[in-house]
Amino acid sequence: MSTATSVGYRVLENARLDARNTFGVRATTPLLVEVRDATVLPDLFGGVIPRDPSTLVLGSGSNVLFAGEPPGAVLALNTRAFGTTGDEGGRALVRADAGVVWHDFVLWTLGQGLSGLENLALIPGTVGAAPIQNIGAYGAEVCEFIHAVEAFDRTTGQFVRLGPGQCNFAYRDSLFKHEPHHYLVTAVEFALARNFIPRLGYAGIAEELAAMGIVGVPRAMQVAEAVIRIRRRKLPDPARLPNAGSFFKNPIVPAAHTGALLAIHPSLPLFRTGDEATRKLSAAWLIDACGWKGHREGDAGVAPTHALVLVNHGNASGMQLLGLARRIADSVQARFGVKLEPEPRIIGVEW
Ligand code: FAD
Ligand code: EPU
Repeated sequence: MSTATSVGYRVLENARLDARNTFGVRATTPLLVEVRDATVLPDLFGGVIPRDPSTLVLGSGSNVLFAGEPPGAVLALNTRAFGTTGDEGGRALVRADAGVVWHDFVLWTLGQGLSGLENLALIPGTVGAAPIQNIGAYGAEVCEFIHAVEAFDRTTGQFVRLGPGQCNFAYRDSLFKHEPHHYLVTAVEFALARNFIPRLGYAGIAEELAAMGIVGVPRAMQVAEAVIRIRRRKLPDPARLPNAGSFFKNPIVPAAHTGALLAIHPSLPLFRTGDEATRKLSAAWLIDACGWKGHREGDAGVAPTHALVLVNHGNASGMQLLGLARRIADSVQARFGVKLEPEPRIIGVEW
């Protein structure tokens, strides 16, 4: 591997990506470009980086599966600034560069007395990736707090600022997810509350707070602590057992179809979606019911603590993990007639 450094960016040739994806699978790129200053992007695209869609933007690799090599260059944003930018409608505006670590940013906002992001504590990854799949957990979605997304438009070479209404946010979905070669997110601005209104409806949070000895209305930092404790119990730490969190999205199905499923499987969990015509099913429950939890094929496996999490026990390849995922999805389709869709971005092959 050779390295060259220029103002605002660094280029590494033939770079390994094994440590840059939380599945820990082997992958390499002929060209890794680490950007420290987003203003160099217009010069980079069409210069060091070809102006075609082949370049993959990578955050911390906690929602990608390298089933093959990335087709071209890989660009990582190492931009790290964040701070308060103003006030609007009684809420504080805070802005963070794409390269900021999400959980560090959440803790910083809470430390500033700002709330909203507490239920999203400990989600791995970067601020820049948060809008891509509209990260969500424990009854909150990041789109509720996004004031603007700043991006570099790879098709025009211009910087743009998009309001949340332009981003098509939905459950684990956004405009950015559908057009991965169009927008490179450079920063996100959030609108956060100064008056804390706790959101404790998601199963387990109130119980965790009680177990922590918190009585009455909790503080936002305490809600974050409860979420962190639940997450540490349920989800394997990628540093110990490499994984990418939930491998499948929870399927959204027509409400009319759920009656027949419930008649056969009365314990099937069903969740409201905000649209009375549909219901969300638990992919973990469906996979668990097919007997996959804790299953292992060589080094590719399913976490013993959560049926939705595929894990790499050591040297599984991306293709081995993908093969296991496909068999899991086929078995859920065969038994329940429900189609599972992967959540992480799969690189190199089609799902
Ligand atoms: P990457 O994995 O590097 O990239 C993900 C996608 O975003 C790729 O398509 C990539 O090209 C694109 N991308 C990244 N940065 C940019 C950018 N700046 N501009 C344009 N595109 C970009 N997710 C949840 O929603 N909720 C959870 O509770 C949750 N829990 C998890 C738990 C574990 C243990 C793990 C490993 C993952 C979990 N995830 C969860 C998934 C993951 O943390 C999120 O999707 C996170 O936002 C990914 O961030 P990243 O920086 O690692 O992105
Ligand atoms: N369940 C099982 N078996 C299991 C695990 C769970 O049957 O092994 C059932 C239980 O009935 C449980 C239900 O699934 O009540 C839901 O489980 P959990 O609360 O863990 O949530 P999830 O639907 O599996 C989703 C997100 C997670 C997020 C949690 C908390 C998706 C695809 N996943 O998981 O996000 O952290 O809710 O809000 O929506 C991720 O996206 O990577 C991720 C980890």
